[in-house]
Amino acid sequence: MPQRVLITAAAAGIGREFARAFAATGARVFVCDIDLAALEEIAKEIPGVIARPCDLSRRADIEAMVPDAVARLGGLDVLINNAGISGMTLPVADYPPDDWDKVVAVNLTAMFDVTRLAIPHLKQSKAGIIINMSSVAGRFGFRNRSPYAATKWGVIGFTKTLAIELGEFGIRANAIAPGAVEGDRIERVFAGRAQISGRTLTEVRAAAMAEQSIKAMIDPKDIAALAVFLASDAGKSISGQVLPIDNDRQRT
Ligand SMILES: NC(=O)c1ccc[n+]([C@@H]2O[C@H](COP(=O)([O-])OP(=O)(O)OC[C@H]3O[C@@H](n4cnc5c(N)ncnc54)[C@H](O)[C@@H]3O)[C@@H](O)[C@H]2O)c1
Repeated sequence: MPQRVLITAAAAGIGREFARAFAATGARVFVCDIDLAALEEIAKEIPGVIARPCDLSRRADIEAMVPDAVARLGGLDVLINNAGISGMTLPVADYPPDDWDKVVAVNLTAMFDVTRLAIPHLKQSKAGIIINMSSVAGRFGFRNRSPYAATKWGVIGFTKTLAIELGEFGIRANAIAPGAVEGDRIERVFAGRAQISGRTLTEVRAAAMAEQSIKAMIDPKDIAALAVFLASDAGKSISGQVLPIDNDRQRT
């Protein structure tokens, strides 16, 4: 039977790569996102993908989305909690509390809500797996990005707890911690750093590369390939782990 896969915030970015990669294995794929135009695009691009709007900062939206996903997929084997927003680039003392709340809602609370609603269905699977997106920011502190770092560390605590609680049901839980990934988002992050530090974009990029052994950005396709491996039978003994994919990054 094909794997049945739910991926959050997957109409664009790394999530879309997850959708492409799982669809290419023959899996049935459901994606949700807040961006309606991007949902239309992904539905056109990947034949058979099920795409549905959902604002993951709203608990009521999640409570409607997860049962719909399970019904349309005919069950659930793979949950990828991909959603994560970066928030603003400001020191803690100046960080707006409303923005803190927004980052925590999307990066951590939505992960909790999607997962708690998915668990009863994953228990019905022969090989359930949860993959949660952390970040290099979940391994180090991150200047001027406090809610992002705090939530990405939180993702790891949540993932390790899921692995302990769910192992007896044959469900595995792992976190992926990417470094700087090629794409629009990292360009926005670099722009924020340049603005707050007064450095040029070129200087900011060079500084980011100086912190890693391999001087390159991460290809999002490689992250998707890692997720496909983790969800495969070959990954059956890997649970409770944080898998960095970051060109050996030594700090954020
Ligand atoms: N891009 C990177 O360099 C990088 C590095 C490390 C970790 N990550 C993590 O990987 C994951 C994916 O990152 P990305 O760069 O692909 O993200 P992205 O910024 O490209 O956004 C992906 C999708 O999230 C959707 N989204 C935003 N807010 C939403 C909401 N409230 N409800 C539903 N959907 C919403 C957007 O519409 C978009 O389609 C995140 O958890 C991120 O923290 C990314």
